[in-house]
Amino acid sequence: MSELRIIEVGPRDGLQNEPTPIPLEVKARFIANLIEAGAKEIEVTSFVHPKWVPQLADADELLATIPRPEGVHFSALVPNRRGLDRALASGVNRIALFTAASEAFTTKNINMTIAESLAEFRAVADAFREAVPNAFIRGYVSTVVECPFAGPVAPSQVKEVIDHLIQIGVDEISLGDTIGVAIPDDIQRLADALEPALSPSQTAWHFHDTRGTAMANVAAMVERGYRAFDASAGGLGGCPYAPGAGGNLATEDLIYYLERKGLATGWDLDRLVQAGSEVFAHLNRPSASRVHQAVLAACR
Ligand code: HMG
Ligand code: MG
Repeated sequence: MSELRIIEVGPRDGLQNEPTPIPLEVKARFIANLIEAGAKEIEVTSFVHPKWVPQLADADELLATIPRPEGVHFSALVPNRRGLDRALASGVNRIALFTAASEAFTTKNINMTIAESLAEFRAVADAFREAVPNAFIRGYVSTVVECPFAGPVAPSQVKEVIDHLIQIGVDEISLGDTIGVAIPDDIQRLADALEPALSPSQTAWHFHDTRGTAMANVAAMVERGYRAFDASAGGLGGCPYAPGAGGNLATEDLIYYLERKGLATGWDLDRLVQAGSEVFAHLNRPSASRVHQAVLAACR
């Protein structure tokens, strides 16, 4: 059985779509509080074009500012060679490359075809591994069930992209239900098509919870032996280039479920709720996480 991993994507996926500008100090404190709450793997920001994702325009400064305690892994999104240069200057040893199973989404999101993105990633991955001795590279595949522009996506389309990413030598694949449409039957069908070429130990699931189905999908994949899940504190999240995408699976909801299932996460739920609360206070709205709300209600 592979090791349980929770990849906290709140500072990146969670914040990237927020229209309210969030000061760097608030982001830095959010990351520090997540670490206090138990986060061991955090996707902290993106080295994408600041005009495309203005909220994360402070990526270089953020990484120069935040303390990086031993035992916590920081990663950042990298779309191309320009992003790679910025990642190398920041000193991260983990990057996440991102493409999709849908041609239409890839073009809208990164202004490349899938083939162009894969060619770019090969160059980026080679250069990153050469420059960074303990490099770890994640390959995201978005729209694994449905594309907001082109509709349903066949598992064979997902498999084709994954085969290329594996050839490039990524260390793990994160499978994104970008707009949060999937139910367990969809995810089981996809896993049927991907296994055994892609094993649970190489895979993370990245569910958005637009329609409230993310936890059902997690439960199905836990039963199937998967142990790595992306989640975002308070269910923050969305993608500026995926109309209708809701927040990510909330880290609080994931931790509550896993702990009740007898899978120790190492996270402190109360501290996580506090970490999220500071950001929601800044955004002037309540957390989308049901477990977050329940923890607050119990404290009243
Ligand atoms: P482009 O406009 O095609 O870039 O954007 P270009 O290569 O033509 O270059 C144009 C100019 O941009 C040049 O500057 C470049 O240097 C500059 P100029 O010569 O004109 O002065 N440039 C950059 N500057 C800073 N950083 C860079 C960079 N690259 C080029 N990295 C690009 C292409 C990929 C940059 C753009 O499309 C982009 O930034 N897209 C961001 C999309 C994004 O962040 N989407 C959200 C994340 S994906 C997601 O949320 C899904 C996920 O969560 C999984 C799931 O849920 O499914 C991961
Ligand atoms: Mg996402």
